[in-house]
Amino acid sequence: MFSSFYRIPHQKLNMGLSSQLFIIPLLFGVTVFCQYEIDDFEDEYENEIDHEYPSIFHHIPGVEYAFPYFNTPTECAKECFCPPTFPIAMYCDHRKLQKIPSIPSHIQQLYLQYNDIEAVHLESFVNATALKEINLSHNKIKSDMIDAGVFVKLSNLVQLHLQYNRLEEIPFPLPKSLEHLILGFNQISSLHSKAIEGLANLTMLDLCNNYLEDSQFKGIQFSNMKNLMQLNLCSNRLQSMPPELPSSLMYLSLENNSVSFIPDNYFQKLPKLLALRMSHNNLQEVPHNAFNISSLVELNLGHNKLKHAFYIPRSLQHLYIEDNEIEVMNITLMCPSIDPLNFSHLTYIRVDRNKLTAPISTYAFFCFPHIQSIYYGEQKISTNQRTQLRTPVFRRYLTPEEYEEAEDGNENEDQDHDHDLRGREDDDYFDPYLY
Ligand SMILES: *[C@@H]1O[C@H](CO)[C@@H](O)[C@H](O)[C@H]1NC(C)=O
Ligand SMILES: *[C@@H]1O[C@H](CO)[C@@H](O)[C@H](O)[C@H]1NC(C)=O
Ligand SMILES: *[C@@H]1O[C@H](CO)[C@@H](O)[C@H](O)[C@H]1NC(C)=O
Ligand SMILES: *[C@@H]1O[C@H](CO)[C@@H](O)[C@H](O)[C@H]1NC(C)=O
Ligand SMILES: *[C@@H]1O[C@H](CO)[C@@H](O)[C@H](O)[C@H]1NC(C)=O
Ligand SMILES: *[C@@H]1O[C@H](CO)[C@@H](O)[C@H](O)[C@H]1NC(C)=O
Ligand SMILES: *[C@@H]1O[C@H](CO)[C@@H](O)[C@H](O)[C@H]1NC(C)=O
Repeated sequence: MFSSFYRIPHQKLNMGLSSQLFIIPLLFGVTVFCQYEIDDFEDEYENEIDHEYPSIFHHIPGVEYAFPYFNTPTECAKECFCPPTFPIAMYCDHRKLQKIPSIPSHIQQLYLQYNDIEAVHLESFVNATALKEINLSHNKIKSDMIDAGVFVKLSNLVQLHLQYNRLEEIPFPLPKSLEHLILGFNQISSLHSKAIEGLANLTMLDLCNNYLEDSQFKGIQFSNMKNLMQLNLCSNRLQSMPPELPSSLMYLSLENNSVSFIPDNYFQKLPKLLALRMSHNNLQEVPHNAFNISSLVELNLGHNKLKHAFYIPRSLQHLYIEDNEIEVMNITLMCPSIDPLNFSHLTYIRVDRNKLTAPISTYAFFCFPHIQSIYYGEQKISTNQRTQLRTPVFRRYLTPEEYEEAEDGNENEDQDHDHDLRGREDDDYFDPYLY
């Protein structure tokens, strides 16, 4: 399974704890979940792919749902279902609908995914001013079939899901209340700066699997989106890093583009970045200190063409650099100095399918004392070469205290670990919509 960013509902957070990478959801739980419970960052190595459409989450955490008093709380479009116990939601999904039904004025959550809807007309929404969440994913909506201004009138709208449609551009205008805008798997090839710049409350923008090129990012002031925490641009046609990202960003997904270089000091403008996913690009060289970001926890640069290692920030816990061209894991570059009062947090390195002929120097364990495993797997060197790496997986023997700590939140470590490695073998699928 390919990587993705997504929200883990509460019950899934616990499952995340039992995986090799439990630290990420955990960390996120501590630093972010409290203030902002909507997004989470998927533990991509968890085998949750068959969980693609988790049961509907009846409540957006952090969003207050008022239960107004109605005379007829059962008012509901005849095509749909409004649960008597949860009358603010209207379920119209999987019904082969071609038209959006009229939405009663008390409805706050509207589920229209998996239908044959081609158009979004104003009249369906005239009374629907209470809407907070609309799921129109998996329909057949084209940009020119969306009535002008239909969404902007919904001044309470917080989440808009339009993934898997036929949009060619971002709907415009959108209400400034919007926090989640999910537009993946469309045919979007143009970005109008006006469409997104004003969305100051937006925390999550997903544009993965569209047709975006570098030129569309010229003049877009992403930095106006002062609350943006997650930007997904995977599987587009980018050749450069997107410019002008807001300093609030914590998750950046750029997998499966054609980015070939990272400008000097690019990440200095992103001091909160926790996770960077750039696997399946064309990176050959990165500035050796490119990732000198004190917040970075996860770095995925697998499936590029990197020849050299680079500086590892202290905060980093998981490093994925498999399928590159690295011949030597130069520890002097990765760890130019050791601060005995402030050790690196690195626990896991995945470095299979490179050109290593020797394991990483043992000096590494002074610099990275928390290393638990290094996955060397197979290296891309001919089998008759003498210096074959013998150990596919290095596992450090943990001290009893560490072992206990790891066991506590991580009951099936070995099992999950092996599974995580296996999972990565056929990992080439990106689905950022697992929330
Ligand atoms: C919206 O529909 C998608 C299916 O495309 C589903 O995965 C997702 O959970 C739905 N979102 C919400 C918030 O219900
Ligand atoms: C909007 O509400 C008014 C007043 O309740 C009602 O007469 C009208 O039919 C509603 N329109 C739609 C499209 O639901
Ligand atoms: C933006 O978010 C803030 C804080 O949650 C809220 O007070 C404000 O009303 C939101 N803005 C809009 C336009 O909804
Ligand atoms: C990579 O992106 C291309 C389009 O740019 C898409 O066709 C392909 O499915 C993507 N691959 C993965 C593994 O997501
Ligand atoms: C990382 O950045 C800090 C300041 O932000 C600087 O002191 C340090 O030398 C840098 N390290 C490397 C390896 O560039
Ligand atoms: C490792 O990197 C340092 C600093 O760039 C360099 O001086 C040294 O020659 C490199 N060592 C190897 C084995 O490549
Ligand atoms: C440890 O290093 C980080 C980042 O390099 C720094 O922000 C922090 O203040 C350091 N802590 C101590 C105790 O030196």
